[in-house]
Amino acid sequence: MIETTWTRAIIVPAYAKINLTLEVLGRRTDGYHDLVSVMQTIALHDMIGLRPAPAGSYTLDCDDPALAGDDNLVLRAARLLAGTLDPPPTTGAAIELRKAIPAQAGLGGGSSDAACVLGMLYRMWDGHLSGEHLCELAAQLGSDVPFFLGGGTALVRGRGEHIAGLPDGEPLWLVLLKPPVAVSTAAAFKALTPDDYGDGSASDAVAGALRAGQPLPLDRLANSFEPSVLRDYPAAARARDAFHAAGAPFVRLSGSGPTLYAPFRELLPATAVYQRLRAEGHEVWLTHTVPLKSVAFAYQETARE
Ligand code: C5P
Repeated sequence: MIETTWTRAIIVPAYAKINLTLEVLGRRTDGYHDLVSVMQTIALHDMIGLRPAPAGSYTLDCDDPALAGDDNLVLRAARLLAGTLDPPPTTGAAIELRKAIPAQAGLGGGSSDAACVLGMLYRMWDGHLSGEHLCELAAQLGSDVPFFLGGGTALVRGRGEHIAGLPDGEPLWLVLLKPPVAVSTAAAFKALTPDDYGDGSASDAVAGALRAGQPLPLDRLANSFEPSVLRDYPAAARARDAFHAAGAPFVRLSGSGPTLYAPFRELLPATAVYQRLRAEGHEVWLTHTVPLKSVAFAYQETARE
């Protein structure tokens, strides 16, 4: 049994993401799609509490009863890691989850929660897996999960499991709008036609600018899901129109939607758009990008316990 010194409760943030680019390159024979995406951690976050529990015991308390089931990805993450570590950990985990990231929104909430639990328990249990093995476990939980092990800004390839870190870009204010529809990721991938596929050039342009320390080319942000989601979900198209009418120059879909985001270099225009959309009754957030250092800091602080 691993002798763990983990005795104290910890509470950590699990950040959401947006896709600055998301280009689906094509369908694979295993049912997944190859993609290339520049993913970006944002400040909107859930909070996760972890307490040591008797060995083999994994429980979840969640303030959203709809997500509190035994199949929640955070419980699967805890069990997967415990079942992989050899020797097994001497403590279980009592997990608490306070949701702020809307579910099934394209913001990676469930994936971020799972990666946070995986990463924190790995530290609490003093695991000794290679980075690659940990990433493989994350990918078993979902295609977006590996990105959240590191966060910040990253170029993501494959079905989501190949992560190359990028330098932090200039900070951006973000207005998010979630139209009142649910989009299943699997259905959104199925709805794609070859016309929707990208060639990776938008991601290359954005990654290239970040590597060169240049301003983010906001006109190169791209998302392969946008045409089909805006076509199939009129509420999403109305939301996009409302964004433009409120004065947002750039509006993109995050993930497979339905959340749309508008990036701004300055707070005042972002606030004006946010307030107008909110007054119109839309579900909106005013948030910002989070640099890698802040994500790493949040983990390190707690790992020092
Ligand atoms: O990996 P995850 O469970 O999040 O994926 C949900 C579904 O989305 C998959 O079952 C698959 O249908 C689709 N998907 C895909 N290509 C990807 C990621 C997800 O086709 N790269």
